[in-house]
Amino acid sequence: MSPQTPLPLSLGVIVGSLRATSVTRLIAENLVAGAPAGVNARFLDIADLPLYNEDLDIEVADTAPAPWTRFREEVRAADAILFVTPEYNRSVPAPLKNAIDVGSAPHDQNVFAGLPAAVVSGSPGRMGAFGANHHLRQSLVFLDMPTMQQPELYIGGSYDLFDDNGRLIDPDMTRRFEAYMERFVAWTTRHPKNPT
Ligand code: FNR
Repeated sequence: MSPQTPLPLSLGVIVGSLRATSVTRLIAENLVAGAPAGVNARFLDIADLPLYNEDLDIEVADTAPAPWTRFREEVRAADAILFVTPEYNRSVPAPLKNAIDVGSAPHDQNVFAGLPAAVVSGSPGRMGAFGANHHLRQSLVFLDMPTMQQPELYIGGSYDLFDDNGRLIDPDMTRRFEAYMERFVAWTTRHPKNPT
């Protein structure tokens, strides 16, 4: 994919909540719904990833659990990653941190390296999971992912944003989501996938 032709774009979406009725997942689904045509989103499952244990990741023994391998291949196939996360105790939920650790290892095979990323956070509280958003950004620096700086998107009051069909109620918020995804596509144009 050249910088001049960002679309079609294979977008991997990683949601930090495992809950069946997750409001974070609704945020992610509405972001994807507002993305420009040509953005092909795939939600990457993190619920089945065994906790990262370096002992299982020795290549010669080939003992990496199958879900780790599947997840790593899915990340490798993506042109960009959209992280959408809730906040647990002012940080990211453990399953999301685990997915990051799984994808980042072994250390010389970090599948996230060079993939453009964006981070959106949401909470029923007022602060929009700002703490989780920035804890996640700290990890993405180490993963060497060029992560969009602006616009930032911290979604507060998330329980009140959606109708019974899981769609955004407020048209202004819908436009904000669309604008965010437009900017993210533009970001992937300026920082195209560049595995190191
Ligand atoms: C939370 N929640 C929460 N919210 C927040 O804004 N800041 C926080 O630090 C925390 N901490 C926290 C810890 C734990 C263990 C749980 C279970 C929950 C509340 C959280 O925002 C709420 O449960 C959201 O609904 C989670 O998002 P999903 O699962 O609906 O996507």
